[in-house]
Amino acid sequence: MDKFTVVILDKDDISKQIITNYLKPFENNIESIKSFNSLSEINYNKIINLKRLVVIMDISEDIQQRCDFVARILQDNPRINVMTMADDYSIDTVIKSMRAGAKDFLPKPIKEQEFSAVIGKFFEYNNVIKHNNCKVITLFSNKGGIGKTSIAVNLALELANITKEKVALIDMNFQLGDVINFLDIKPSFNIAYVFDNLNNANEEFFLATFDKYKNTNLYVLADSPYLEQSKNITTNQIFTLFEKLRKTFSYVIIDTSNIFDDKTIPILDNTDFIMLVSVLNLPALRNCQRCLDVFDRLGYDKDKTKIVVNRYIENDDISIDDAEKTLNRKIYWKIPNNYFTLISAINKGLPVYDINPHSNLAKSYRELATVLSDNLYKQKLADRIIRNKKFSFKNLILS
Ligand SMILES: Nc1ncnc2c1ncn2[C@@H]1O[C@H](COP(=O)(O)OP(=O)(O)OP(=O)(O)O)[C@@H](O)[C@H]1O
Ligand SMILES: [Mg+2]
Repeated sequence: MDKFTVVILDKDDISKQIITNYLKPFENNIESIKSFNSLSEINYNKIINLKRLVVIMDISEDIQQRCDFVARILQDNPRINVMTMADDYSIDTVIKSMRAGAKDFLPKPIKEQEFSAVIGKFFEYNNVIKHNNCKVITLFSNKGGIGKTSIAVNLALELANITKEKVALIDMNFQLGDVINFLDIKPSFNIAYVFDNLNNANEEFFLATFDKYKNTNLYVLADSPYLEQSKNITTNQIFTLFEKLRKTFSYVIIDTSNIFDDKTIPILDNTDFIMLVSVLNLPALRNCQRCLDVFDRLGYDKDKTKIVVNRYIENDDISIDDAEKTLNRKIYWKIPNNYFTLISAINKGLPVYDINPHSNLAKSYRELATVLSDNLYKQKLADRIIRNKKFSFKNLILS
């Protein structure tokens, strides 16, 4: 289990001592506690590169400067947990702190019970992610309109068709989800309902609440129609959901929003492969580089992120080679630019394969699904063959 560093910024020595005492019950989660009197004492580069960090900051003085600091560290490492505190505070203080991205604010003098509740939530995040045979694949980009949803939908459907395993497609773009429109689904339930009933969630529940797409093994979960419904989803609930999904599905494909926030990060933490989508232009590649930097800070293995170039055109101004040099990473997959086929699929609410199975776009989605499915698919087939003597090795090789 990775332990946390706790940084306390407070010029009042007694207050620092009280907080240190309150942290005693959490000592199993804590690597070290570092106390500072002022911002200038903190080595910025050192702290943002810490994998697990909790910052407890007094904002009674220099509020603007301290909130700017909070906003900056969270931009550089969104997984840092920040709690602010102040004596003589106003509602404006609380709003400023929240806008900067602090997860909680407590009035001084700090009460042990309240403090433990806040800090306890930060440490719960240190859950161990259990892996089994399920692959969770998340489409992400910090730029909008780049092709996440079109790839998520078509990839999920191809995975279901190729592997015949149960595949879940989940809309976790809590702001502006549109997965159901791409497949013209009128959902019976949505993600808010699933979170509300998480305690009862098991295979039977998932298969009954997700919308089965036509006669495939694809199960789709819509986003919630009202933004407020997903506002209170906690990190712990997200972890629990993934733990349960892994027991039901062989593949879980997640469509996300474009921001690093308190929902996106736990989703990415629970992901086996992040498909980081970009296009070959400079602003998009720069954004892609920023994402890679954030993933490094989050402590993700390099192999976890696969860069997908969407809307690829041969002999474009920027080549794949240029992109690889800029990003210092290999491009994992390229999806051709084919506006006509895709827009006609979107407008009809159909997968690209149903519009034109011979198009370069349909082929690219299918090949991507084949590559991603390979290990697990073959492994499961081999298991089945061993269990069931009716299968022969010829079947395995032919598939
Ligand atoms: N391979 C492609 N070829 C041509 N056009 C494409 C391709 N992929 C995506 N597009 C265009 O980009 C638009 C946005 O795609 P999509 O909705 O999949 O992006 P997104 O990243 O999910 O967007 P958002 O940030 O709004 O969720 C599509 O409507 C389509 O016009
Ligand atoms: Mg989208």
